[in-house]
Amino acid sequence: MNSRETILNLLRDGRTVSGGDLSRRLGLSRSAIWKAVTALRNDGYDIEAAPGRGYRLRAAPDILSETEVRRFLGPVRVIGNGIVCLDETESTNSDCKRLSRQGGAEGTVVIANRQTAGRGRMNRNFQSPKDKGIYMSVLLYPETNPGQLLPITPLAGVSVCSAVERVCGVRPGLKWPNDPVLNGKKLCGILTEVSMQGETGHIDCLIIGIGINVSQTPDDFSPDVSAMATSLAWELGRPVSRPQLAAAVIEELDRAYDALRRGDLSEYLERCRRDCVNIGKRVQLVSPDGLEEADAVGLDEQFGLRVRGDDGAERVLRAGEVSVRGMYGYLE
Ligand code: BTN
Repeated sequence: MNSRETILNLLRDGRTVSGGDLSRRLGLSRSAIWKAVTALRNDGYDIEAAPGRGYRLRAAPDILSETEVRRFLGPVRVIGNGIVCLDETESTNSDCKRLSRQGGAEGTVVIANRQTAGRGRMNRNFQSPKDKGIYMSVLLYPETNPGQLLPITPLAGVSVCSAVERVCGVRPGLKWPNDPVLNGKKLCGILTEVSMQGETGHIDCLIIGIGINVSQTPDDFSPDVSAMATSLAWELGRPVSRPQLAAAVIEELDRAYDALRRGDLSEYLERCRRDCVNIGKRVQLVSPDGLEEADAVGLDEQFGLRVRGDDGAERVLRAGEVSVRGMYGYLE
């Protein structure tokens, strides 16, 4: 921990700590403490200096710095052991891919305040305006065969729903396979990418990319996206702390990845069945072969969507195979 992080740590929970106390605890001169406090203020921390009493942290900025995310992060097993925060990048998924080639550690999370070339599923782009969302990717090296990774995308979706519920007090639904939705609109997009040896099927790395809309207003989206997307702050009518939510997502992903490695996903399957907003509804299946209608009837053990066609035949859809829509657009 550097001196700024130590100072923030000592000032947590609104405590007032004297300059003398800080300098004794950090082993630094009073002027070095003053310099560190000034640097924190320049980073947006509102620190009060009351003569004769000491320093008090009045408010922290809503920034996705490693210090801010770690302030909210509890102990983790794998995901979140390494955190890299960037002010701007092309795509955090691409950053993780590059990191994997350089031998980056499993569980490293790359978080950006803005993406200039954010990528979505089906080669779409993912609008990632500055300071409005959480754009993050996780680098993993699962020692398993590709078949066992089928649940990974819905697991990531359930993890985001749980994190939002913990931080905001409302639980989004899940549009199968992995889009958390609130009030019928998309709150978050997830892009999972696997790099695999063609001949042996050995997995080189798995990257889970998550983009959460936190404080966008409808004007921040292009008109086509605005028709189906929303943000947490817009729906709730109040601000949401991005570092707090990012930390909660990391914790939830870490728990889900541990369950996946243990092969015990029963709790997640049950959760996903309850969260899935498509089950019991009519859906439109969009595939390269065209459009088709069916009834979504449930999830199978691998988190695939069970649908019944109009001929009464049932089949199971896997994430990535087809795109599922409601009958009249994104959800309805
Ligand atoms: C989708 O809904 O189509 C998936 C969107 C995934 C966006 C996230 S943002 C962080 C990570 N980096 C990317 O370039 N994409 C993912």
